[in-house]
Amino acid sequence: MILNPERYLVTSALPYANGPLHIGHLCGAYIPADIYVRFLRLMGKDVVYICGSDEHGAAITVRAKKEGITPQEIIDKYHHMFVEAFSKLGISFDIYHRTSADIHHETAKEFFLDLYRKGEFTEEESEQYFDEKAHQFLADRYIMGTCPKCGFDHAYGDQCEKCGSTLSPMELINPISTLTNEKPVLRKTTHWYLPLDKYEGWLREYILDGKLDGEEHHYPDTWKNHVIGQCKSWLDSGLQPRAMTRDLDWGVDVPIEIPGAEGKKLYVWMDAPIGYISATKQWALDHGKDWKPYWQDKDTALIHFIGKDNIVFHCLIFPAILKAKGDYNLPVNVPANQFMNLEGDKISTSRNWAVWVNEYLEDFAGREDELRYNMIKNMPELKDSEFTWKNFQDSNNNELVNNLANFVNRVFVLTQKFYKGQVPAFDEDATFEGVWETELGGFFETEMIGLHDDIQDLNEYLRSFDFRSALRTVMEISTKGNQLLQFNEPWKLQKEDPETVDVIMNLALQIVAALSVIIRPFMPFTSDKMRKMLNLPAIKENGELLELLEALSLGESLIEVGHQLNEPAHLFSKIDDDLIKQQKDKLGAVPVVQKTEEILQHAVADVQTEYVAKEQTHPSVKEPVSYEAFAKMDLRTAVILTAEKVEKADKLLKLTLDLGFETRTVVSGIAESFDPRDIIGQEVVVLLNLEPRKIRGIESNGMILMASGENGKMSFVSPQKAWKSGSIVS
Ligand code: 2FM
Ligand code: ZN
Repeated sequence: MILNPERYLVTSALPYANGPLHIGHLCGAYIPADIYVRFLRLMGKDVVYICGSDEHGAAITVRAKKEGITPQEIIDKYHHMFVEAFSKLGISFDIYHRTSADIHHETAKEFFLDLYRKGEFTEEESEQYFDEKAHQFLADRYIMGTCPKCGFDHAYGDQCEKCGSTLSPMELINPISTLTNEKPVLRKTTHWYLPLDKYEGWLREYILDGKLDGEEHHYPDTWKNHVIGQCKSWLDSGLQPRAMTRDLDWGVDVPIEIPGAEGKKLYVWMDAPIGYISATKQWALDHGKDWKPYWQDKDTALIHFIGKDNIVFHCLIFPAILKAKGDYNLPVNVPANQFMNLEGDKISTSRNWAVWVNEYLEDFAGREDELRYNMIKNMPELKDSEFTWKNFQDSNNNELVNNLANFVNRVFVLTQKFYKGQVPAFDEDATFEGVWETELGGFFETEMIGLHDDIQDLNEYLRSFDFRSALRTVMEISTKGNQLLQFNEPWKLQKEDPETVDVIMNLALQIVAALSVIIRPFMPFTSDKMRKMLNLPAIKENGELLELLEALSLGESLIEVGHQLNEPAHLFSKIDDDLIKQQKDKLGAVPVVQKTEEILQHAVADVQTEYVAKEQTHPSVKEPVSYEAFAKMDLRTAVILTAEKVEKADKLLKLTLDLGFETRTVVSGIAESFDPRDIIGQEVVVLLNLEPRKIRGIESNGMILMASGENGKMSFVSPQKAWKSGSIVS
């Protein structure tokens, strides 16, 4: 049983490199893990925090095909986007790796081969859907159809995005290939299965009773109810063998040593979580360390941070794989979060109902901690929660500005005014209106004990993954700081009783110094700013919280008498209504870039009416129009961002155009002249103020100018020089 682990290995779910991150991802698996590892480091613990991009899977290849680019281009794009977003938000991974790395392929293959040699898999032949036109088996997202559970007609072969059910292609009603829209046929194929049913009893004991080999294994105490509940319902409905391989052309190869391996890849179960191991290996190589104790020493606590959609994966399937392997630790906790909704609705990639992290970071540059704060305050720890822009604004303006920044600022301004920025002396016998033990009076020492006790509570919350309560405790300490000033009014008291004011201001500065440490896991950038203002060393996350608690319990000062402060900086500022309105207006609007292949799928599904491109004849000159009539036409340059075929309309392409100031969707009858893959990035001229028109269910907002050639072929009209998008054409 792990009571006080010697080291920790903490992971966040590897995000799929096939679309941008939204706030739901952040508060599910990344911000909570970051809080936790920063806390552990502040307590002087040995911790390694692992993550990376999950760069395999059908979603990536399907998307690449649709966009006419290679899977490598897709994963590179999103991997780099993730690296930037996580780093700007201060997610402090020890390594952010990628599953396309050689070390990962080697590690996953070795892992698989070892299990194969130990006879842990069964080999089974089954019939699976095959696309005869594309010459490919249709796993996961290569196939869609009607969900047998909820009737949604765009469910994928692995999951229904509407009701969240995990599916297999054979369960889909009226399946079609997402590659060719053809009806698939059944063909025989062989795969390797992990007999999950064999582990049922063991999993029951491990998850439901919290025991491993008869000993308590859950750390720190129990697991979240909803995590255990979801596992129990899976266990109760009986576990089935799970295929560990797929017929795919993108991913980690099944080791060639295994007969029949050709053309087969490891499925996500045997790939992504092994990414945690290969990333640890890479980290160890980079730092001259040994990776093994982190995965194999019994004194290591393995903890996975995930969203609830990954519970079965991390609590049942991956543990069964690790158990089969034999020489690896099992997670001591999987503190999964539920989902975050947005403005009264589920976050939806396809409807662009999301707050995209990269867009937030652009629109709110310098306000990274403000997002972290709101995410933590509303973290869906035990039940689904909701993000609203109003709440974001209110929590910023009322809590960060009016409480925290206001307190810190008042302390600095008064210290500057009364003591030229030097920490005042204090008299231990002085009395004043206190805020901890009693509101009527107390001693400095008593107040420090109150602070100590609150920080102990904070630690307990952090230890047990109750990050909302932990953040609340930090803000309550700030509130108490404000009350200390408010009750005693040092600005008035200074004239008649300067000794008492010294004590009050000294205590207020101790509170600010404590806050600079304890806010670290939640708002690291603010912690840095406060340390600078306080002229104290930056927090290295190397046992500072432990030292703080020791100092407080010994009644020692956190900031010495006579210490010179620096000038105060602005910690937070108000967010006005306009900015919030702009953000709300973005929700559900046409996205700047297509967010996932789902957008394409959904757009295709809406097709209703046909638009027929005009045949090229020998046109005679049309009736004259006045210059005024011509001048009414708003013609602009634009660049094609995305292009896709419109289903069942041979002549139509759906295009997204970048106009510099906005993006637009235009349906154009040019499919017979161009392959959509070839025209991405093409500069065009577009008639902007043509009345919007629904073409096969897609609203077309404008018309691209084309020059018609022989046999109805077309070519684009574009400026001779590459002008900025949105330039006027007249
Ligand atoms: O569900 C997902 O997002 C997958 N990329 C798997 C994440 S968990 C894994 F890393 F083990
Ligand atoms: Zn469904």
